Amino acid sequence: MDLSEIEQRLQDLERLGLARRLRLVSGPQGPTVLIDGRPVLLLCSNNCLGLADHPRVREAAADAAMRWGVGAGSSRLVSGTMTIHRRLEECLAEFEGSEACVLFGSGYLANMGVIGALAGRGDAIFSDELNHASIIDGCRLSRAQVIVYRHRDVEHLDWSLRRHGRRDGGARRLIVTDSVFSMDGDVAPLADIAQLADMHGARVMVDEAHATGNLGPGGRGAVAEAGLESEIDVVVGTLSKALGSYGAYACASAEIVRYLINSARTLIYSTAPPPPAVAAALAALGLLRERPYRVQRLRANARALRRALASEGFPVADTEMHIVPLIVGDERAAMRMCQEALGRGVFAQAIRPPTVSPGSSRLRLTAMASHTASELQMAAGVLGRAARAAGLEPESLTPALPEREQELDELYALEQLDVHIAPGPPDAPFDLEREVEDIQPGAPFDLERELGGARAA
Ligand SMILES: Cc1ncc(COP(=O)(O)O)c(C=O)c1O
Repeated sequence: MDLSEIEQRLQDLERLGLARRLRLVSGPQGPTVLIDGRPVLLLCSNNCLGLADHPRVREAAADAAMRWGVGAGSSRLVSGTMTIHRRLEECLAEFEGSEACVLFGSGYLANMGVIGALAGRGDAIFSDELNHASIIDGCRLSRAQVIVYRHRDVEHLDWSLRRHGRRDGGARRLIVTDSVFSMDGDVAPLADIAQLADMHGARVMVDEAHATGNLGPGGRGAVAEAGLESEIDVVVGTLSKALGSYGAYACASAEIVRYLINSARTLIYSTAPPPPAVAAALAALGLLRERPYRVQRLRANARALRRALASEGFPVADTEMHIVPLIVGDERAAMRMCQEALGRGVFAQAIRPPTVSPGSSRLRLTAMASHTASELQMAAGVLGRAARAAGLEPESLTPALPEREQELDELYALEQLDVHIAPGPPDAPFDLEREVEDIQPGAPFDLERELGGARAA
């Protein structure tokens, strides 16, 4: 039987244990949701402060719908800039301690737009190897040369900046990093990065998607926690995680914001965020200011979850970060453990390639401020039992490359095709095999050719 190309690809994904399906959840993103009519503890939502379903936030969205309608009607630059957008921008600029702010439709769009505006053909971007997909895609779309430095490795970044100097004197250089890494919950060495940027004449963009509302004084993020507000050129944040709504923003100097308004394609060519989402974010920001104890509560819950998991034997660091990865390794085993936990009343989605690198599939847990201590204790026990039922010992959860590494690499190569991974300081171990060819600038994108090229590389 002749399979269509798409059917073949779907079958390949099934065979590799990488097929994804949408799971239907009933009710709001509270600490508990209904799946198939059964209540389960929600342990994988980014609504970590519990604001998405807060009565004041809901009311603000409903009022805004009545006052301004449900849609913004056009791009910000046509008729889409409404008073509510301006109000939120002013509040966010003050919150972030920056001169100006501009809203985007989502975090994904913000990263694509800002990166594309700050770097283009002939420029160089230095990007942490575990940056979020929206940053990777922003780098691709920019057509700048992309140099990927090893995760949180400032020596490697320094070496890369020296090696990829300003060749023609005019090229721009941009360092871009998540502040809290979305799949690992660790934090970028922002002070060192800012220092290197200063030394090497580069700009820095920090994606605070998982730090806004969770880290720093009053939840103002990792940049504020490190006291680097005046050293980071652009801070991107989302309204969709701790702030419980949808949309995103970039905070920077008035000059950079004016420039973004004139050049960020995802702002120019996409409809402005809907008024109810903007009003909801404003209300959430107000709650965060009035009741900053939520941030402390989240951190205490994160600590409690980590300790409970450690007492079950899971190898987790004793920190206060609310994102807690349980790295299983094999993608099928991660799915089995996820299903076993769900059957026992805990929903912790398994995360597989290409979201994480091959051989590091995991359950990515997220604590919420609205969880109770006993819920988190119960969840750790369930996860311990789920691991054993899936044939895993919690103590032995360490990343291990699966045997089908080659096949996975071929699929995963899609993620890396146009990315040049810096081979690293001369005597440091670094995987040169992962280096891939740059796409020819201007050539039409041809998936088959790219896959063939990746195989041959
Ligand atoms: C680090 C990071 N940046 C950006 C985004 C995209 O944000 P949004 O969901 O608002 O598009 C995410 C979403 O998961 C993220 O984790």
